[in-house]
Amino acid sequence: MQLINSTDAFLLASEAIELNQSVAKVAYIVAAVMFVLSLAGLSHQTSARRGNLLGIFGMVLAIAATIFGMMMSGYLGMVIAIVPAVIIGAILAARVPMTGMPELVAMLHSFVGLAAVLVGISSFLESGIDVPESEHLIHNIEIFIGVFIGAVTFTGSIFAFLKLRGSISGKPLMLPGRHLLNALLILASIGLGVWFCRVDSSGVDSSGMVPLLIMTGIASFLGIHLVMAIGGADMPVVVSMLNSYSGWAAAAAGFMLKNHLLIVTGALVGSSGAILSYIMCAAMNRSFISVILGGFGGESSGPAAEVDGTVSEFSVQETVDLLDEAQSVVIVPGYGMAVAQAQHSLAEVVRILLDRDKLVRFAIHPVAGRLPGHMNVLLAEANVPYDIVLEMDEINEDMSSTDAILVIGANDIVNPAALEDPNSPIAGMPVIEVWTAATCVVMKRGMATGYAGVDNPLFYKDNTFMLFGDAKQNVDAILNKLRE
Ligand code: TAP
Repeated sequence: MQLINSTDAFLLASEAIELNQSVAKVAYIVAAVMFVLSLAGLSHQTSARRGNLLGIFGMVLAIAATIFGMMMSGYLGMVIAIVPAVIIGAILAARVPMTGMPELVAMLHSFVGLAAVLVGISSFLESGIDVPESEHLIHNIEIFIGVFIGAVTFTGSIFAFLKLRGSISGKPLMLPGRHLLNALLILASIGLGVWFCRVDSSGVDSSGMVPLLIMTGIASFLGIHLVMAIGGADMPVVVSMLNSYSGWAAAAAGFMLKNHLLIVTGALVGSSGAILSYIMCAAMNRSFISVILGGFGGESSGPAAEVDGTVSEFSVQETVDLLDEAQSVVIVPGYGMAVAQAQHSLAEVVRILLDRDKLVRFAIHPVAGRLPGHMNVLLAEANVPYDIVLEMDEINEDMSSTDAILVIGANDIVNPAALEDPNSPIAGMPVIEVWTAATCVVMKRGMATGYAGVDNPLFYKDNTFMLFGDAKQNVDAILNKLRE
């Protein structure tokens, strides 16, 4: 009788586990569809809010399904992992300023990379998943590739974080023979992969751990080296490349854990990150391959040209007089507008100028600020109408027929050296050609360089006038005078 009872209990428990897992699978499919719809929504400003909400629902559903699927095998571990993570994540997200987002994103990528490394190593030591004899080789390849991508992402993202934060120099580190070094590191990893897959890794013999750990060290070094070789203005592409790598690392972890949602989500992040990197490379006239290979071909044949001359200043009143007389005005916002939080006052200035029947438009550079779409987000927050916010390519040719340009806290994205000096570190990068307009006013606090650390000859041009000071204070002063 006792035996029958315990058998019944076992069967009931097995059925409950199967039911839980089936419910979890259905929830995973729904979550995956939500993620796809979320990405579709994020492709346009008007649907972005809906896209974000769908992504949040999808993620909540995915986490709930994972916890539900784990109930029978003990959820204490999940609670211990999830509760502090949710609290830390919420505090960080609430505290981080918009200008600090790229650093936070880089840090989060590093976590994904580290997770892929740890999942890979633990899958090798004790998989927890029954892998049939015939699939051992495939499983080993999944582990090896997952750990490789994870380690490159982990260290690359940490160094990207340090560069974005300014803790280490943003200048590219050009080691002699660095491409040969990268090629040797990749060849060595392939060799270690062959060694790893040849040893018996059924759990009886764990000697495969040696090539796995050596490769982890090599991939970690490669991640650092690839990111260190990329300089200032190209960092946005690196961040989106690391975003893509973190997606592939998650997908690889999904293969190792046989978790379909992780595979789908990882592939979505990996491919969308790769597409974004490609678009950014095209916008910045950089070769996609060269950025992946750590700035291949980025060498200049000599030092950048010296920048000097006389700087002409404008007062707030002179700027207001210029705006009064101008029929067409273009505003070029940059990182400084985000720092000063000048967008709300600026939106008021724009409303007044529009009411006075002037043609007022914004010109947005693809890498203005510190994250993709940074300026669009700030302007949308200040309720600037979408139809007067134009991309650089849409408005650049109108610059020469514009009466007045206001550059607000932008520097690298309006630097003529990118077009005029072939030895400049930003040579070849398309910029907004503000100097071709009748008059250009640049609002910034002093003569400091921008993110790329490159001097800007724009400030010395005859038709350029500097309005020094904090962007918010100056825009407020302009607003007050316009209201008078
Ligand atoms: P930057 O070239 O970084 O120039 C911003 C300028 O704003 C600085 O020269 C600074 O000069 C001024 N500034 C700072 N605080 C200010 C304030 N409170 N009031 C007025 N001015 C202020 O910005 P950008 O032109 O937008 O170019 C973006 C750069 O960041 C590019 O090099 C890009 O590659 C890089 N980047 C972009 C991203 C993405 S995805 N967008 C990510 C990482 C890096 P003063 O100190 O003299 O005031």
